[in-house]
Amino acid sequence: MSERVLVTAALPYANGSIHLGHLVEYCQADMYVRALNRLGTPALYLCADDAHGTPIEVNARKQGVTPEALVDRFHAEHARDFARYDVAFSNFGLTHSPDNRAIVEAVYQTLRTKGMAVDREIDGNFCEHDQRFLPDRFIKGICPKCSTPDQYGDVCESCGATYAPTDLKEPRCTLCGNTPIIKKSTHVFFTLSAKENAEFLRAWIDSGALQPDIANYVRTWIEGGLRDWCISRDGPYFGFAIPDRPGKFFYVWLDAPFGYIASSAEWARAHNVSLDSLWRSPGTRIEHIIGKDIVYFHTLFWPAVLNAVGYNLPTKVHVHGMLTVNGEKMSKTRGTFVNAATFAEHVEPQALRYYYASKYGAESGDLDLSFEDLIYKVNGELVNKHANLFSRVSQFLSQKLENRLGDLPFPAVSAQQASTGDNSMLDQARRVVESCRRMQQLYRAREFSQVVRELGVVADIGNEFMQNAKPWDQLKSDPEAARLTCTFVINVCHALAMYLWPIIPRFAEAGARGLGCSIERMDASLLFAERNRPLGVFERMFDRIDKKATDAIIEASKQSLAPQKPVTAPVQAAKAAAAVAKPAEPPTKAEAPTPTGPKEPITMEQFQTVDLRVGLVRRAEPVAKSKKLMRLEIDLGEPELRQVVAGIAHVYRPEQLVDTRVVVVANLKPATLMGVESRGMVLAANDGQALTLVRPEAALPPGSQVR
Ligand code: 2FM
Ligand code: ZN
Repeated sequence: MSERVLVTAALPYANGSIHLGHLVEYCQADMYVRALNRLGTPALYLCADDAHGTPIEVNARKQGVTPEALVDRFHAEHARDFARYDVAFSNFGLTHSPDNRAIVEAVYQTLRTKGMAVDREIDGNFCEHDQRFLPDRFIKGICPKCSTPDQYGDVCESCGATYAPTDLKEPRCTLCGNTPIIKKSTHVFFTLSAKENAEFLRAWIDSGALQPDIANYVRTWIEGGLRDWCISRDGPYFGFAIPDRPGKFFYVWLDAPFGYIASSAEWARAHNVSLDSLWRSPGTRIEHIIGKDIVYFHTLFWPAVLNAVGYNLPTKVHVHGMLTVNGEKMSKTRGTFVNAATFAEHVEPQALRYYYASKYGAESGDLDLSFEDLIYKVNGELVNKHANLFSRVSQFLSQKLENRLGDLPFPAVSAQQASTGDNSMLDQARRVVESCRRMQQLYRAREFSQVVRELGVVADIGNEFMQNAKPWDQLKSDPEAARLTCTFVINVCHALAMYLWPIIPRFAEAGARGLGCSIERMDASLLFAERNRPLGVFERMFDRIDKKATDAIIEASKQSLAPQKPVTAPVQAAKAAAAVAKPAEPPTKAEAPTPTGPKEPITMEQFQTVDLRVGLVRRAEPVAKSKKLMRLEIDLGEPELRQVVAGIAHVYRPEQLVDTRVVVVANLKPATLMGVESRGMVLAANDGQALTLVRPEAALPPGSQVR
């Protein structure tokens, strides 16, 4: 078996929804892993939710839930969103897991034994009111350089200056508004400054692990002098307690990357493979895909700690740029800070994958999503070029030529030879094969935008061939000539389905089913062999995007999101540079949803007019032509099932509802929704970002009263 590749994407914080910025990375890594596997290189895609840190602890407290409950909720939401975008992790873990705790504790013990974890007393910013040390992002004040008010304790978003929280003018705690004091605390440091770490890191970078531009600036960090890295935090904190240091916790940025290994451990257990064969053996290549905001953590601390404790080192750290929308940083007021779920409600997620692919390269430049361009590319390329080719040729064959492929005037193996340029049918087949071979290399190099260009070349060959040969004319005098034309074009479609699959897998699978072809391997030597057999049944492949849909995304994003300052790439980069001097707490990338305020009080009598009952869902089906409505038939302990229409189809699938219990408002006056009568209402909780059904904890009989 060839060497296994372990691909990771950065762990999202389980503290907010997945948005289009996140998806830049998860879709890219997904395409890469899909391509590697289909090219015969076994690859795993490992990820997890990042559960720890002060922001999560504070958010959970604000919401009156435990941090565990908060991260579990986001974990479920993230898994649902990733599935919608066909992001198929081999394992999607959570860093707050027994595996991760055991791994991190063992790492800590090794570092202690080797003298690479040492205690040191340092000054911290402490809020006496909240009785806690404050990370930089929990302190705000006036920028010492440009005097802009309301700036974080580490970097000014106006002038880009980086500083210590103590440099801020009028610093205050973001939780209570009081001025923090300086207080001493003893912390654990990883001895990154030791000479052997710099030597090791230089050699690791020289091994080619980084893109040249990234390698250059990481080298400048090393040559600028490495500082020891504080790997502990004071409570209250949501994290793993340090076993021999009461009241102290491991810093989230220590245990988060070990989440890659813990996620691998879960996969390994489920597949009867040893974890060591993945992380402590030469048989694997570790490849991290990350954004440029977290380069510092992945190129200094992480390899140095791995090296210290004897795990495999990253073979590659691929750094990508950040997302801008319509040329500007994502903005909630402009409606361009778009959650994955919001986009998916209006536009088929594969459109975004195709669009992103058309923009991805192996370099670390930023990626711009323009909604106008998205419509143009998806309608002009995916629908007009690709989907139309499948549709025209398949429907022609099925309607006019008994849905049967004929033969081609050359053996399949001849198509493997170099093109001669004579533009014969065989020559065009050879050009398709050559293009597919190039795509194989491009996929391995993660040059997806060039793959998309090659796919366009292949589709053009198919479309032009059909246009020139005119099978509709051929049919009149020589039906077999028309069949030959279509057979050639079907073989071009086979190539398209095979090479589109890593980018838009459901599209490609629908295409392959329609052709009756296998696309299980991405291998150009399998092309032009589809002959003399019936075709499958054509399935409609993709709908055009209407501008109304993208307008609706922007409108919905304006309405659904609470105001929040976007974290911009330059600020993140400045923050990373600042971290050379002082490691920082990661920013809160998504704030807690704001619950709506309390309503006017009502009396007990008023409340008792509402008849709430436990219902058992017996049937569920989406309401035709509606994205949100689901028709439910619910057992309320009455002689007949109750028909209720609920706005949950964008969140739940019918099979997740049947035979489960819900809470129903049983005495609501009937209403008609999209032509379907609803006699009651199902209770669901909605925090403005995620919707979840309210369910009784025990399996009470249908009709039980809820009070
Ligand atoms: O920046 C972030 O969103 C972090 N949660 C990424 C962690 S990646 C890895 F190191 F765990
Ligand atoms: Zn405070």
